[in-house]
Parts: sequence; structure tokens; C-alpha cells
Amino acid sequence: MLMLGATAVGALSVASGAQAADGKEVQMLHWWTSGGEAAALSVVKQALAKQGYSWKDVPVAGGGGGAAMTTLKAMVAAGNPPTASQILGYYALDYADAGKLADITPLAKTGDWAKVIPTALQKFTTVDGKWGAVPVNIHSVNWIWINKATMEKIGGAEPKNFDEFVALLDKAKKAGVVPLALGGQPWQEATMFDSIVASTGGVDFYKKAFIDLDESALKSGTMKKSFDNLAKLRDYVDPNYTGRDWNLATAMVIKGDALAQVMGDWAKGEFAAAHKEAGKDFLCYRFPGTDGSVLYNTDMFAFFQVSGDRQAAQTALAETTMSPEVQIGFNIIKGSAPARMDISDASFDTCGKKAIADIKAANAKGTFLGSLAQNYAQPPAVATAYYDVVTKFVHGQIKSSDEAVTQLVAAINSAK
Ligand code: BGC
Repeated sequence: MLMLGATAVGALSVASGAQAADGKEVQMLHWWTSGGEAAALSVVKQALAKQGYSWKDVPVAGGGGGAAMTTLKAMVAAGNPPTASQILGYYALDYADAGKLADITPLAKTGDWAKVIPTALQKFTTVDGKWGAVPVNIHSVNWIWINKATMEKIGGAEPKNFDEFVALLDKAKKAGVVPLALGGQPWQEATMFDSIVASTGGVDFYKKAFIDLDESALKSGTMKKSFDNLAKLRDYVDPNYTGRDWNLATAMVIKGDALAQVMGDWAKGEFAAAHKEAGKDFLCYRFPGTDGSVLYNTDMFAFFQVSGDRQAAQTALAETTMSPEVQIGFNIIKGSAPARMDISDASFDTCGKKAIADIKAANAKGTFLGSLAQNYAQPPAVATAYYDVVTKFVHGQIKSSDEAVTQLVAAINSAK
């Protein structure tokens, strides 16, 4: 009691030393496990390393973030939240509403973030005027990615509408090329269906059905036709698509094993990681029939309430993420557009320039709409119900478009 042995003193100082080190650590949960994604995240890591912060990765694979969100939920419930988590739309709102997020409003005020981030996104970064998350990028799902050499080989041209897209895929099939690289995972199929719905019914229909959940739109002939169109695209995938990861589908297009992929612009990050150039090695077009609209998802970093000694790391991560240098460096590699609207497009490739211009134009004319598959149109329960119906249809458990429409209406009604 009177005498503290050397070992006890040593242990004490190690413990307090460890605590100091914790304060200098950024623990980040995310699902950026592909080559392009990891390379983009390094930009953030390196910027923080320069400020003396170490990085502890908590990666949980799976686009759309479903699996990562399960891990996050467990960490938050155990009172052990990460410094920050990658998060999508309505998931962030749930944590904000539950009072789990930190308040970084003073940083937002100093940085004037409200002026540079699109208002549509601020619905998700901010609740009751309080900022709890920052957007690192803007992605959109309505793109197609094409191997240019293969396109030339088959004599294809940019498809301007859905029928032309089908005709192009058919040309590839006749030439003995796998027309469409798809990963048969629910989130990928639903992400593709977002674009099909916007193309089949137009952007106003997409809005009515998926943003407003208007039942007459959900059960309309146009929704049935959207499922018919999904079935048409399914005819052009190779037999091994079930369960394939999205980046392996992108790799098929990169290598010329397939002509095209329908995927968000994170696919471009894989082309970049493989040293492929936009316009030279690959082509990017808006999903045929959706040019002028942007079905967006933005990756946000949500900040949870943590002990005082961990808050400096959160501040550093938030400020770093919002810095113009990181918004440029990260998004060039990631394939996305900066979330800040005050950034020049000069250092972006042609696809990046188009993404940036499209976002501004869509934002101005009301065609900048959240992706349902990517959790920016509806709360997670509705998005999950949507995944379920779309994937059952793609894999033949739901046999007709009529049945798909009936099940979609029922699933959404019970989830909302
Ligand atoms: C995220 C992207 C990510 C993709 C695939 C999406 O949900 O928004 O940043 O690259 O999933 O992992």
C-alpha cells in the first residue's frame, strides 16, 4: 500500500501512455476493400498521418454498406463507437435522431460548409441544424462502363436509350463477347434497377415511385415494364454471375472479358487502379435514357459521441475530409465527384468532368435524386425490402414482372 513497486509504476505509465496514443488514433469503419477504394482512402490516411494521427482500419466488405452497418450497430450498442464510420443517407439520420452523433457544427460554421455542400446532401449531414457527418464525395449509380477496344471490335456506338443498349449488348453477344458484367448480389442488382426504373419511366416516375413512394406509381404498368427491362438485361450476363463481387465484374470489363458494366462511378476507381484511362481504354456513359439525371449517393463520415480524449482526432478527420486538397485527391482516385461545389474540375478526367457538370446541372433543375439502392431515397427497411424483391426476381424466385410488382408494393408497404 505504501510502496508502489517498480512494475506497478511501469504498468501505470504504460496505461496512460496508451491512452495518449489512443487520442492520436483515428479508428474508421468502412467498406472500401477493393483496390481503387483502398487507394482513395490512403489519401485521407496520409493527410492525417502528416498531422500525427495513426490509423486503425475497421473494414467490412459489401457495397451499400449493409454488412458494415451491422458491425457499426454492434459497436455503438457496446458503447465502443469508432472515431468515424463511412455511412449512407438514412443510416446517418437514424443515428442522429437517436442522439448518437457528435456535434461538429462549430467546424461547419468556421468552414462555411453550408455554402459549398449541395442542400440535398445537407439533409443527411445535418439534423436540427446540427452537423454530425461530412460528405467526402458524390457518387452516382446511373452509369455504364465500357471496354473501348471491345466496343470498337464489335462496331458499337453510344446507346442513347434502353432499346439501343439492348441492341448493343446483342451485338456483343453475337460477336462472342460476354455483353454484361454483373455481380449477382442483391445490392448490385438493386443498384442497377435504380437506373432501369429511371430510364424506363423517366426521372419524374423514379421520383414518384422511389422518393415519394406513390402507390399508383409503384404498382403501375411502367414499374412492370421496368421489371421486363431488368429481365432483358439478365439475358446478357454470363452463367457465373451469382455472388460475384462488383469489382470482379469491373475487372471483366477492364480485361476485355466483358463489354459493359452498369455500376456507380466507384467502378472508375478500379479502372484507375489498373492504370486505365478514360476515353482511351474505357468509356463512361450515363445509363441509356437517364442523361441529365443524377441518382446520387454520397459517402459520409459520421462522427459518434466519444470521450473527450478522442475528439481532437474527430475534428482532424472532419477538417481534413472537407479540405479542397483531400476532396480533389480522394475523388480522382475514387471515381467520384467532390462533395464541395467550389472545386475546379481541371485535374479530373473526362468522366470526372462529366460527373461534376452533371451534378451541378441536375441540382439546378431538380433531377438530382437519391438512389434507393444506396440508401438515399428511403430508410433502410424500405431499401432492404426493395433489394429482396429485385434479387428474387433476378434469380427466378419471383417468376413474372406482374408478381414482382405485387410483391414490391407489399414489401414496401410493410417496411415503411
Ligand atoms: C459506396 C461506394 C463504394 C461502393 C462499393 C457504395 O455503397 O458508396 O463508396 O465504393 O459501395 O463498395
